[in-house]
Amino acid sequence: MTPRPLIAGNWKMNGLLRHLTELEAISGACAGMGEGKDLLICPPATLLSASAGLLFGKAAIGGQDCHAETSGAYTGDVAAEMLADLGATYVIVGHSERRAGHGESDADVRAKAQAAWRAGLTAIICLGESAEDHEAGEKLRVLGAQLAASVPDGMSAKNTVIAYEPIWAIGSGRTPTTEDIANVHDFLRQNLAERFGKEVADGVRLLYGGSVKPDNAAEILAIVNVDGALIGGASLKAADFVAICRAC
Ligand code: G3H
Repeated sequence: MTPRPLIAGNWKMNGLLRHLTELEAISGACAGMGEGKDLLICPPATLLSASAGLLFGKAAIGGQDCHAETSGAYTGDVAAEMLADLGATYVIVGHSERRAGHGESDADVRAKAQAAWRAGLTAIICLGESAEDHEAGEKLRVLGAQLAASVPDGMSAKNTVIAYEPIWAIGSGRTPTTEDIANVHDFLRQNLAERFGKEVADGVRLLYGGSVKPDNAAEILAIVNVDGALIGGASLKAADFVAICRAC
């Protein structure tokens, strides 16, 4: 089974109420665009509610992180159930910016994915090697270890999406070669098949993220085993996000 592609925008810590005009434009363009693929925007938590209204029926909305616990004394954190309560159906966990900036370990990421599942959300579990690992030829070893430790038992094609994001490609304008992306995605699919069985592994969407732009999207999205993209900077402008969606 070839998974249905997912084009996901991650706004990161960008966006004020006045920037919802970009979502209005995306919503307007979505009419003829969602055929055969799923579209997702992950705005900052402060814009989730308004985004849910604007994109209803056009594109899904998701959180950028969730706490591993269901509720409690965790000032400033957001529970997966709170995201679901606002209409979110996805949540990103283990983004390299969370791993680096908030010291999140693979075990933390695994617990967050489980929290997402408990709330009925699909977890987008992010993996990626550093520039140093890349240059040292350690990429597949690092990714294999992250995959094994970050993805909980019980993964299915419905409850999980895996996003491969080389850290050195994020926001840098640099991307791996198409051959390198293909090799990593083949490796991830194979690795998942060994642990969860071929049927589950074949159904799980494997996204590529890191400097996806309108001018390279078609080439990246055409790679075998790339089932969509996780887009940062280029998702902030409706015209760029729409162009990437159309390239899929
Ligand atoms: O979550 C998105 C990624 O970190 C990619 O960001 O498209 O700005 O490189 P970017």
